[in-house]
Amino acid sequence: MITPLIIANWKMAIDRDGVKAFKAGWNSKPPMESVEAVIAPPAPYLSLVQELTHVSLCAQNVSENDMGAHTGEISAEMLTDLGCQYVIVGHSERRQNQGETNAIVAQKAKRAQMAGLTPVVCVGEPSQIRASGDAVAYVTQQALTSCEGLSADLVIAYEPVWAIGSGEAASGNVASAMHLEIKAALTDQYPELRVIYGGSVKPENCAAFTMAEGIDGLLVGGASLSAESFWNICASAKGAG
Ligand code: PGA
Repeated sequence: MITPLIIANWKMAIDRDGVKAFKAGWNSKPPMESVEAVIAPPAPYLSLVQELTHVSLCAQNVSENDMGAHTGEISAEMLTDLGCQYVIVGHSERRQNQGETNAIVAQKAKRAQMAGLTPVVCVGEPSQIRASGDAVAYVTQQALTSCEGLSADLVIAYEPVWAIGSGEAASGNVASAMHLEIKAALTDQYPELRVIYGGSVKPENCAAFTMAEGIDGLLVGGASLSAESFWNICASAKGAG
């Protein structure tokens, strides 16, 4: 059985006091052992999150460039130095707001792998593509192109754009069907590929995903900002996979 991978994506939605409150709440809970709990804080708080017990560390972004003259950027090697094991690449917010293309996402993921990080490559269709019936073709193409040239040490996060931050999660069946399509499309290169679901995951709906076929974990935004809520999601995912 694959250990469920449950990643908290804090985005730019928490401040220093919030991180400290999360730490106090999380560290007072029983250790989370049967899932891999991962926190992706804003970069300035990566070292604060190292004080949390039983979590792995994830960055939210990485430069596609090698070290050098790139003001404001953070290299994959720097993230490794800070203790990161994972990095999110190609989140739909970055694809939309920072203009990240599949080619840029693939380059970021490659840099991450070269530095020993596991990239969490995000894919997902906007609502009009889902409505047109082309979601499978869109998402599998996005996954193939965003993972071009990568080795097997990667995770894909399926996050339908319409489900992110909307309160309108995909159903377990819809998510499961897409996960199986993604795995089938990439099975030649990555027979053991892990695919996790993201988009309006909450303590109340998380088991519908973690119990479903083909779903190996979760990427959680809003509901990961409180230790209580994220711990409950991790606890519900126990034994799934
Ligand atoms: P959400 O965000 O859980 O708030 O929908 C998920 C994500 O963007 O990773």
